Amino acid sequence: MEQTYIEDVARHEGEEVTLRGWLYNKRSSGKLHFLQVRDGTGTIQCVVFKKEVDPEVFERASHLTQESSIEVRGTVRADERSPLGFELGVTAIELVGESTDYPISPKDHGVAFLLDNRHLWVRSSRQHAIMRIRSEVSHACRRYFDERGFVLFDSPILTPNACEGTTTLFETPYFDETAYLTQSGQLYLEAGALAFGKAYCFGPTFRAEKSKTRRHLMEFWMIEPEVAYMDLEADMDMAEDFVEYVVQRVVANRSAELAILERDVARLQKVKKPFPRIAYDEAIEMLHDKGFEIEWGADFGAEEETAISDAFDRPVLVHRYPAACKAFYMKNDPEDARLALCVDMLAPEGYGEIIGGGQREDDWQTLRDKIRHHGLPEEPFAWYLDLRRYGSVPHAGFGMGIERVVAWICGLHHVRETIPFPRMLDRLRP
Ligand code: 4AD
Ligand code: MG
Repeated sequence: MEQTYIEDVARHEGEEVTLRGWLYNKRSSGKLHFLQVRDGTGTIQCVVFKKEVDPEVFERASHLTQESSIEVRGTVRADERSPLGFELGVTAIELVGESTDYPISPKDHGVAFLLDNRHLWVRSSRQHAIMRIRSEVSHACRRYFDERGFVLFDSPILTPNACEGTTTLFETPYFDETAYLTQSGQLYLEAGALAFGKAYCFGPTFRAEKSKTRRHLMEFWMIEPEVAYMDLEADMDMAEDFVEYVVQRVVANRSAELAILERDVARLQKVKKPFPRIAYDEAIEMLHDKGFEIEWGADFGAEEETAISDAFDRPVLVHRYPAACKAFYMKNDPEDARLALCVDMLAPEGYGEIIGGGQREDDWQTLRDKIRHHGLPEEPFAWYLDLRRYGSVPHAGFGMGIERVVAWICGLHHVRETIPFPRMLDRLRP
């Protein structure tokens, strides 16, 4: 029998269809069962009326338990009271797989319990909304670069190179050597940019962050574009245009999901170019005015980032941080050698840094000295230095963390709900 998906029932009004899904919830009286059935594309109320079905169908419905998988046959009819606009008048039900003592009931559970049951929690309506938005964000990210002539240039996950410092590396034996799980595809992507002009990568990245915050995961997904002949200013233009595109696509395509999450969409609609741009020096002044005692030279923590972003109603680009608090590969500002030609984008509403990037050091000698200065081993970086020996050009790019962007767009307190199976300091399971 042909299966109809709940998202398509509107096209079958008045017809008899077969749905395949799971029992989400049930209400019963002596004569009626109201089954909430979900199939992943939506939820529909299925009405089993004692007078209209065989006694064994009514009996079967009365014993159905939460999350049992079922095949339901019935007639699609309009129902103004349901959010879907339709319900199903049931004629037959088959039990496919029973579910006994489903651990997640409609009542409230603590987050730790829900995370222990993440493999089941992802079936609930809020998690559905978040995962669909994540899927939309990922799709928008790819689409943006695909439509602008970038080549998808996948970077390796196992690497001998530390891109973002040596304190957050996950090590793994690699036959007779030691490999790390990649912290960022950037270094390899620079090779891609010098080969293709415009390249991007999109994949999981890993950081052994010994901090338990609402913004940090050990495994997160990053989209990273890299462009040859690009400077910091053009890099900021690209970051701004890209973020506007991604946010507005979600607003346009995922309004139902944003409504389930009760997100204030007006705030997202404000995410339009131009975004404010301030230099690190100005950010420090702002912080001093707000009573922070931060010294020039220090990187910003979560509190500082929130204080800065609170001054704006859209993301803010903070550029030219002190080189000493940033990664080895950054190019120094020719106007002030203490500064790096870098940029962080801070999301509004306290979501913190969503993008980090900038212009890369393109001079062989300077880069070799930086590698030494940062105490990094030279041998694994020989190939990376080569890029400065064979036709080096100014180039720039950035990385955007998908989970932080999804948390911001969805208005979530913590990044743990933005990825199907979060990896955190105290959580490797399920
Ligand atoms: O600022 P980061 O460390 O920049 C880089 O890795 C560059 N190599 C990227 C590039 O220029 N191609 O990280 C980029 C972004 C951050 O702005 C943040 O959104 C996210 O990655 N991020 C994390 N997200 C979740 N959990 C963590 N532990 C994260 N660390 C960084
Ligand atoms: Mg950063």
